[in-house]
Amino acid sequence: MKMRSHYTTAVIVLAIVLAAGIGRTVLTAQAKKTVWNGVYTSEQATRGKATAAEKCGACHSPTLLGGDLAPSLVGNDFIGHWYDAKLSELVDKVIDTMPADAPGSLKPEDGADIVAFMLELNGMPAGKDALKLEPKAALEAITIVKKP
Ligand code: HEC
Repeated sequence: MKMRSHYTTAVIVLAIVLAAGIGRTVLTAQAKKTVWNGVYTSEQATRGKATAAEKCGACHSPTLLGGDLAPSLVGNDFIGHWYDAKLSELVDKVIDTMPADAPGSLKPEDGADIVAFMLELNGMPAGKDALKLEPKAALEAITIVKKP
């Protein structure tokens, strides 16, 4: 009898622990926004394609596949460098350091359009809300991950 009640208690405790664990997993999954959640619009990416060809093409090639002067921004090169980074880190890299021959010259709207184009090139889907560079916290909340 005593054994059995211990057993029952253990089962209940285990059930509570499991339920809490599952609940937390679900919550985390919902809270983690990624580049696969449609974080830019296709209009932005279309504009970004033209702007990128003009401002980044000389070094990265017009389609950003990389050239003699600069690395590819597409595919394994992209995800290899940016995996698990915040989208804000990629935006900062572009806005603060690119184009490498004229850092700081990019208008914020152009930067947002170009990053949208980079996401499109990497297969990440467009959504209904445009990518905005402000507030910064919103960009920090978006993680770059491989296709889920
Ligand atoms: C004058 C040549 C040049 C131009 C123009 C240029 N880049 Fe670059 N870019 C580089 C070089 C060189 C690197 C590699 C060194 C580094 O990471 O800073 C680089 C690296 C990058 C990286 C980091 C790559 C990675 O995966 O780590 C990004 C993102 C990037 N460039 C975006 C852009 C964008 C967007 C533009 C256009 C607005 C642009 N670059 C224009 C030369 C250039």
